[in-house]
Amino acid sequence: MTAAIIDGKAFAANLRAKVGELAAAFEAEAGRKAGLAVVLVGEDPASQVYVRSKGKQTVEAGMASFEHRLPAETPEADLLALVEQLNTDPAVDGILVQLPLPGHMDEQKVISTINPDKDVDGFHVISAGRLAVGQPGFVPCTPLGCLMLLKDRLGSLSGLDAVVIGRSNIVGKPMAQLLLAESCTVTIAHSRTQNLPEVVRRADIVVAAVGRAEMVKADWIKPGATVIDVGINRVPAAEAGKTRLVGDVDYAGAMDVAGAVTPVPGGVGPMTIAVLLRNTLVAAYRNAGLELAADAI
Ligand code: GUN
Repeated sequence: MTAAIIDGKAFAANLRAKVGELAAAFEAEAGRKAGLAVVLVGEDPASQVYVRSKGKQTVEAGMASFEHRLPAETPEADLLALVEQLNTDPAVDGILVQLPLPGHMDEQKVISTINPDKDVDGFHVISAGRLAVGQPGFVPCTPLGCLMLLKDRLGSLSGLDAVVIGRSNIVGKPMAQLLLAESCTVTIAHSRTQNLPEVVRRADIVVAAVGRAEMVKADWIKPGATVIDVGINRVPAAEAGKTRLVGDVDYAGAMDVAGAVTPVPGGVGPMTIAVLLRNTLVAAYRNAGLELAADAI
């Protein structure tokens, strides 16, 4: 049996189109565009690529993009002052401070300065708390994207066994909370987990978010399971001097056992920015005091 390929790229394109329609409706109702501010400190090349992509997709969705680029040596106080200015700017619905920040800055302190009602990254402790207790708030984009793919594939997740490999604040922990809220039986595995292959073998749903190339092997996967691969790892390619991207799952092996698998690239990756746009649109409706139907997006 060959597993189905979960097409995150197509799903993300659909989601962006839906955000675009609702962004136009928002603009007509509110008399202004929904706005996303992205702050980049320093010149990390990967971050520059992400930030450019976010800005481009924000504008393509019919929303306003405010980009703030600060030099790497910017004092932390100046960044905090910028975040506070964005907090009170009525044109800004969502604030994203690109991570990682330069070493002299305290990331937690910076994130804590963001108004939780504009925290479209979902990294603020208030957002994490709201997710944990089931209050409306913002959920980190990558795990929310994974959940959307899972629900699209499986419908109800109620009662399913889910194993999340990785316990980061950005993916593993919020992913586990989302699956729990869908009534899965959730296990969070990590680098100290004993008998990891056995733990993964129980799972109807596997979410791999560890950052280790092709760590999850075919014989760890329960036949028919749905496998979501969050990993993006660069490894040497067959051709000398070249590299290629692989996930945290042995994709070729998993294709022989699983029911469905996300590819890398083209699976979870494209979902992250699409969900960021979705979160920004939701923030805009809430901040403007306008109604957005619960099932609208
Ligand atoms: N760096 C890598 N991914 C992300 C993300 O989703 N949000 C932020 N703020 N920084 C990142």
